[in-house]
Amino acid sequence: MRIDVVTLFPDFIRDSAGLGVVGRAQERALLTVHGWNPRDHATGNYRRVDDRPFGGGPGMVMLAEPLEACLAAVRAADPAPAPVLLMSPQGRRLTQAKVRDLAALPRLILLCGRYEGLDERFVARHVDEELSIGDYVLSGGELAAAVVIDAVGRLQDGALNHAESARQDSFEDGLLDCPHYTRSGACGTEGVPPVLLSGDHAAIARWRRKQSLGRTWQRRPDLLARMALTKADRALLAA
Ligand code: ADE
Repeated sequence: MRIDVVTLFPDFIRDSAGLGVVGRAQERALLTVHGWNPRDHATGNYRRVDDRPFGGGPGMVMLAEPLEACLAAVRAADPAPAPVLLMSPQGRRLTQAKVRDLAALPRLILLCGRYEGLDERFVARHVDEELSIGDYVLSGGELAAAVVIDAVGRLQDGALNHAESARQDSFEDGLLDCPHYTRSGACGTEGVPPVLLSGDHAAIARWRRKQSLGRTWQRRPDLLARMALTKADRALLAA
């Protein structure tokens, strides 16, 4: 998969995508992340990328022209089709289901806004979808883009060392994850639920499912309300 990111801070995107699982996915050539700076495509002595908005008011708006030239350079570098996603608090909320859809695509172009946002004429012409990572406002789209890159990057085939771990993540089955305990460490088995030491794999699976259901019920009842629970799940929740 290839992800191109249009941002005034390409170093931040490159650096964060070089760490951990996503860094390893890049080393394994499962993913490439490229940063593009609209300032490199701005004209004039000051290479301006923003201006005051029509109608007045506080703050600056990102100019359409440098963004347009930058996006043209991204498309020229690789003409394969790719949806253009704008990171924005006005966007549709990112979910694990959306992450899975995005991870299946061969390519994505992410746009990071700064200031009050982008000139709406550019958005209307070029943006396929706006994505928000939550109901709060960041000072720019870079952290949101890094979230998308991480969530999508770790789902690339071969990115995770344990093939199982992505399937067992929180949200993959609509529930929150169960608690985990390390085998080694100073505490030994102290505080570890006995069932995890029993070697009874069916009982362990039931315990984990019950923990997931219980945590979701306590912390995110909204998720549970949207799920069609099986009879076995309802029995575990009631037990
Ligand atoms: N840019 C600023 N705030 C954001 C948010 N919550 N999600 C995505 N992009 C953003």
